[in-house]
Amino acid sequence: MPSPRPATYDGMEELIRASRRRFPATERWIYLDTCARGLLSTDVRAAVDRYLDDRMCDGGNKTAMFETVERARKKFARLINADADEVAYTKNVSEGLNAVATAIPWKPGDNVVLCPELEHPNNVYLWLNLRRRHGIEVRAVPARDGHIPSDVLVEAMDARTRVVTVSSVTFAPGFRTDLRTLADACRERDVLLLVDAAQSVGVLHTDVHELGVDAVAVSTQKGLLAFYGMGFLYCRREWAERLTPAYLARFGVDLGDAHEASMGDADYRLMPAARRFDLGNYNFLGATAADAAFDLLLELGTERIEKHAVSLAHRLARGMMALGLPVCGGEPGPHLGHIVTVGRLGAGQHDSADDATINELYSHLRDKGVKHTIRRGVLRFALHLYNDETDVDRTLALTRHWLERGQRVEAVPSSTASAGSTT
Ligand SMILES: Cc1ncc(COP(=O)(O)O)c(C=O)c1O
Repeated sequence: MPSPRPATYDGMEELIRASRRRFPATERWIYLDTCARGLLSTDVRAAVDRYLDDRMCDGGNKTAMFETVERARKKFARLINADADEVAYTKNVSEGLNAVATAIPWKPGDNVVLCPELEHPNNVYLWLNLRRRHGIEVRAVPARDGHIPSDVLVEAMDARTRVVTVSSVTFAPGFRTDLRTLADACRERDVLLLVDAAQSVGVLHTDVHELGVDAVAVSTQKGLLAFYGMGFLYCRREWAERLTPAYLARFGVDLGDAHEASMGDADYRLMPAARRFDLGNYNFLGATAADAAFDLLLELGTERIEKHAVSLAHRLARGMMALGLPVCGGEPGPHLGHIVTVGRLGAGQHDSADDATINELYSHLRDKGVKHTIRRGVLRFALHLYNDETDVDRTLALTRHWLERGQRVEAVPSSTASAGSTT
């Protein structure tokens, strides 16, 4: 039998392009809204249907459900280059962040360092809560031109710093954070680096060893292409085993192969690594969806997915700039991942802009079938494996037509607007 064709980059790029067909929504929309939620594939739908049929017709098989949970845990671990027992089940990002934050033995006057201006509220309120409950200091570092300034976060650390927390990619303007600088500084000072990877995992390649991060919280509805109400927490073994979870239930306790309902003695031992954060019964439906979604991500590989999505993001950013629109961060550079934002950051509410031009362009694109969002006053577009050049070029063409209609053309510099003919 002839051996299969080696998986060259080109071959894999073809596979990425072919996988678009597995996402029926791409036939109806120009789907640039992975920042809000990713698309479900036909494979995920089929796996979920099988689970529901089994529950509906046969009551469900608990052994099979646990097998799915462990399979999905292993796949997620492979996706981020961790060991399976360094991965716990959660229901969302907040739960993962809270699990780690509340497991730290805080003393009054200890501090956490972060850049709250650019964090999602779910990575801010938990620290305010710990300030109220334990008297910790929430040490806020200002943003720099829309970036989380890793060097300034490092400077803000002192002997009382226990945790530094950042988003790997902010939800707006969507820039990448320099995690390596933070990881080195945290490792040197025995400070825990806790990362909110809601906006990066699944699209941008995430190798927790290479990055040197200590804990990472994610949910599965965005880049991981599965459901809301389901998440994972990675915690590096060396850190996890120094932590005592605030919540504890049967699956966080090591009773070997004993039945799920068995009770050990009061002198219990916690599960190894992050498994101590598992609580009771799992979101089996969510795990079923994640298990199926991870197959495609693992098959294509996140390095290739990242390359594909980032190159589309560069095309979109350059095209928008050529049309004279203010792309956050300007010329594509290392800050740009798979998210492109347009407008003036902070000039608006959470889901609308102060600038009427931006609101009108949003409505125009939305009405023409471009799914995207406004966050903190900027238009936000995200690319994933199911997008291709036609999505980008159609979005740019629709934007150019809107500018040519002239309603708001005065809002963009006319000298650069004409360069839009490249699209
Ligand atoms: C950076 C970031 N963190 C957290 C969240 C949401 O947190 P949770 O999963 O707890 O709802 C989002 C968006 O949904 C986000 O973009």
